[in-house]
Amino acid sequence: MAKIFITRRIPESGIEKLKAHGDDVVVSPHDRVLAKDELIAELKKDRYDAVLCLLTDTIDADVFDAAGEQVKIFANYAVGFDNIDVDAARERGIIISNTPGVLTDTVAEHTFTLMLSIMHRVAEADRFTRAGKYKGWAPLLLLGTDLSRKTIGIVGLGRIGARVAHHAVRGFDARVMYHDVKRNEEFEKELGAVYKEKLENLLKEADVVSIHVPLLDSTRHLINAERMAQMKPTAYLVNTSRGPVIDEAALVDALKNGTIKGAALDVYENEPELAPGLAELDNVILTPHIASATEETRGKMAELAADNIIAVLEGRTAPNAVGIAAR
Ligand code: GLV
Ligand code: GLV
Repeated sequence: MAKIFITRRIPESGIEKLKAHGDDVVVSPHDRVLAKDELIAELKKDRYDAVLCLLTDTIDADVFDAAGEQVKIFANYAVGFDNIDVDAARERGIIISNTPGVLTDTVAEHTFTLMLSIMHRVAEADRFTRAGKYKGWAPLLLLGTDLSRKTIGIVGLGRIGARVAHHAVRGFDARVMYHDVKRNEEFEKELGAVYKEKLENLLKEADVVSIHVPLLDSTRHLINAERMAQMKPTAYLVNTSRGPVIDEAALVDALKNGTIKGAALDVYENEPELAPGLAELDNVILTPHIASATEETRGKMAELAADNIIAVLEGRTAPNAVGIAAR
């Protein structure tokens, strides 16, 4: 019987899958993020063959060493795996897996939720109405901006970026331009999308910029003050990827100064902290890293993480093993 440690309670379907496989599953007794020393202490309590970890866990050489030599896989309950030192895992022969695919539709939906909410001023309008300020229909009340037929700039054409592009073109007759390290001509043909090799050229033209890159050294602060200044003053910035891709303090300035018109964020540079001043602004929508958080999808992510563990325990290849070149 293999022993599996789960760093925090996840949807039951994933836990059930592991138990049905005959494994001994231990869920962290604390329903909160474990500090690194707490995680190390939990891992040292027993000898685990597999660990199911979360994006809020920092998984590095110290953690691998605490887990010991019998551990075969750390299955991350997320598509992003910037919380894991993949090189340190490879050096120790530990497999790392993620949960791609199952959350693509959900994150794309949340991206549009954010995009439409900022453009139609939904949160601001909700606050206004609840505050009893609605005194009757008015021609100039809370005017927003249409998404239809606008130019959407997709930064990072992975599964999620491509799905957002699809909805933008098919659902809103939008024009799509994209920036990525790789060009995808098939995608261009399918959606009439335009490749912008230089990010600057996308930023200059897009009415909405939506970020879908993984967090890497090369994407940290990809959107900084200089890049925001290249955007149109009427443009919106949407981020459902990872917070550090945007220089959040610079974004607060850009939103205050009217460098750009608005932003909608699901992720932050120092989660769960927000950059000073961000929460006071009306031209921003803020959600707490919930882009994949639907009942359906969080269940599927749990099952997929379990599938990866089961495959490795049975000596098969993990279906979603990641290498350093994830894209
Ligand atoms: C969530 O942020 C994920 O990477 O799945
Ligand atoms: C994630 O699944 C991505 O490739 O965007």
